[in-house]
Amino acid sequence: MIEIDQSTCSGCEACLRVCPQQTISINDNKATVTGTRCMACGHCMSTCPSESIKVPEIEEGTKKFHSFDFDNKWLPYGQFDIAKLVSLMYSRRSTRNYKDSHIDRKILKDLIKIGATAPSGTNSQLWTFYVLPTRDAVVNFGNEVLKFYEKINNMSSKFIVRKGLKMMGNGELDNYYDEYFDLVNDGINDWKQGGKDRLFHGATALILVGSKNAASCPSDDALLATQNILLAAHAMGLGSCLIGFVIKAFEKDKRVRQYLKIPKDENIYSAIALGYPDEKYHRPTGRKQIPVTFLMG
Ligand SMILES: Cc1cc2nc3c(=O)[nH]c(=O)nc-3n(C[C@H](O)[C@H](O)[C@H](O)COP(=O)(O)O)c2cc1C
Repeated sequence: MIEIDQSTCSGCEACLRVCPQQTISINDNKATVTGTRCMACGHCMSTCPSESIKVPEIEEGTKKFHSFDFDNKWLPYGQFDIAKLVSLMYSRRSTRNYKDSHIDRKILKDLIKIGATAPSGTNSQLWTFYVLPTRDAVVNFGNEVLKFYEKINNMSSKFIVRKGLKMMGNGELDNYYDEYFDLVNDGINDWKQGGKDRLFHGATALILVGSKNAASCPSDDALLATQNILLAAHAMGLGSCLIGFVIKAFEKDKRVRQYLKIPKDENIYSAIALGYPDEKYHRPTGRKQIPVTFLMG
């Protein structure tokens, strides 16, 4: 729960206004914990002008970074260069060419801390991060993922199997065959012959972002943390690429889960390939037409 130093509290009520769970009241002109619920979001602590509030569950170390100096000040609304922010967002590209260079573990740890600045449903913060920190670790994991795709390609190459399943109402394998068979087949051949790595594109590290099933919004939490990591990676000079093929293998093949030793009470929602980029762009591209509807107004 929250600790309030009543000797310094001025009774200004700022903490009351921002608390999402009505945990604090004012008694005798001092903030007092009267509620029984607290999700340890730290809004009270952030807003207190006299620094009288502490939320023991919050670790100060999560704000300490190795690769840059973090300015431990709250940035007021509107006081960030939006043009710079959008430039970062549009400049991040899915990187599919990497140098051999190794990423320092401290940088990977920083990326994960940046991931965890994301919001999470009821502030559960039940995300989990797994790091394959070297090219060898990425390749060894790739071998496991490859076994899954060999199996799927083999199954889907059998006309009777995929059409039979489709007739029984399961068209997944048939769709897979149409959309991915050739692509995956080429990827497998290349991988086995030591050719181009079409799965991880030669990335030298992989971060898998998961969530405990007990979280109120597990996939949302993991994917929001993921986007933070993608943007931060670009800002830190790294390239990144989400690898959906890993997530599919993870969902469909328990061996992949076992290889990574992922506990049963959690799931992986994104796999982020990372490395120092060996490509550059001259300009951002826009997006396809964006469907927007303003309702009732
Ligand atoms: C959920 C998801 C899964 C993806 N999986 C892969 C993948 O397995 N391999 C790959 O090369 N790119 C993958 N991508 C990257 C997309 O192809 C890429 O985001 C898209 O082409 C837009 O390009 P940009 O990221 O450079 O803006 C994935 C992206 C998302 C959002």
